[in-house]
Amino acid sequence: MGFWEDVRAAAQELSSHPDATIISHIDADGISGEAILAQALAREGIRTTSVFVRQLEPLTMRQVPRDDSFKIFCDLGAGQQNLLEEHGLSNEEVLIIDHHVSQDCGTAYQQVNCLPYGHTKLSAAGVAYLVARELDASNADLAPLAVIGNVGDMMAREDCGLIGPAREIARDGASQGLIEIRERDLNCYGISTRPLHVCLSYNDDPFIPGISNNAPGAMKFLQRLGIPLRDPVKGTLVWEEIPDEHRKRITSALAQQLLAHGEGISRLFAESYIFPGEPERTPLRNAQEFATLLNSCGRWSRPSVGGSICRGDRGTAYRQAEHMLTNHRAVIRELLLYILETGVTELSHLQFIHVGDRYPDTIVGIGAGMALSKLNMDKPILIMVEQPQDPGLTKVSMRTTERVVGWGIDLQQAIAEASSALGGAGGGHRIAAGAYIPRESEQEFVRRVNELLSGQYAEAGAGHR
Ligand code: C5P
Repeated sequence: MGFWEDVRAAAQELSSHPDATIISHIDADGISGEAILAQALAREGIRTTSVFVRQLEPLTMRQVPRDDSFKIFCDLGAGQQNLLEEHGLSNEEVLIIDHHVSQDCGTAYQQVNCLPYGHTKLSAAGVAYLVARELDASNADLAPLAVIGNVGDMMAREDCGLIGPAREIARDGASQGLIEIRERDLNCYGISTRPLHVCLSYNDDPFIPGISNNAPGAMKFLQRLGIPLRDPVKGTLVWEEIPDEHRKRITSALAQQLLAHGEGISRLFAESYIFPGEPERTPLRNAQEFATLLNSCGRWSRPSVGGSICRGDRGTAYRQAEHMLTNHRAVIRELLLYILETGVTELSHLQFIHVGDRYPDTIVGIGAGMALSKLNMDKPILIMVEQPQDPGLTKVSMRTTERVVGWGIDLQQAIAEASSALGGAGGGHRIAAGAYIPRESEQEFVRRVNELLSGQYAEAGAGHR
């Protein structure tokens, strides 16, 4: 069967069950995927209950109810099918909607997974949307949620925009006036909420000498252009509000700055996805910032608050989420400073740090990713954190850059192999991956990952080391 046949078969299967439990992941992709499925099923008159898990593992499997409801696994499950089997789930009561590497299993669970069909830039929310649209064409109004999931899972990052089926989904949203697709926009986070100089100084993809990591430098750069960046009523303008011709002048000056330092300009531009129906200057206004809002809910153990926002709650849930977002940013900033002040240990092919039990395991990867732009960006970063609730386990996160992935580095492969060899488990993506490992094997794990990365460099023949 092909991917689209799997989508059709899944829609058919879903419509035949009166009750369903959706088991989804706590990140932006899982939260938006769950919201798509739950709303689409509710419209069919199917009763749903949702469960969010950090990771599908023996402990969290206990949250999967042993009842007659049909079980839909979203953004997880493909790589943990043996666990579903151990839990006693039969193939008639399960549907997996995922985009992660699939695990061989004795039970043939029904699955819609874009990955084996080569759609590597589609997230689980994207797959969930395609199934929902197949259930009923009117579910196309859920396209913005799918775009948030896709963008939140970094599906737009490598190509500076969504491609393939994910782009078609964005166009679905655009044709209904729900999404404004801005082609060749500035490739920068915070276009709806941050003052432009802050936005530019936080950005490291591309790294612009004199501007990245340098807010005063970014401010001077903009002042020299003589473009008005304040409005008498609105105050400091955010990128999204700056008039077209001014935006063009700024991007061409940024391009010149890159060229003057011998850097390419291809990553200066990216497609952005704006939601014109959402209030201006809020994180709801574009896909990237909306995804961060959902991530902050999930990472601080309130994924259902994110779910309510996806269903349109702009009252209590939104206020709670704003609060979590502020806290999320503050803790990540603190972690970032901790990493930079403490320093990392450099091995031949990676740099690592252990943060003890100072930070929640759900955010260490994000902090490490941000610290990377202030460290040696050519070496992947590995961060370890203790698990207060399970002292025998260490959580590991790794991050690298598009540039290094382009050389042939695959963190998912390295982390999955090293962790499983030591009795742990992990996965993720080439650019961002994570694992749980037995605490006593921390040193050996780091050594093995370094060795595996060294092998990847050798195989790629990159000649960078
Ligand atoms: O937790 P972290 O933010 O580092 O996760 C990065 C990526 O690695 C995510 O895609 C996550 O699903 C994946 N991961 C995994 N197994 C783990 C931890 C993380 O597949 N044990």
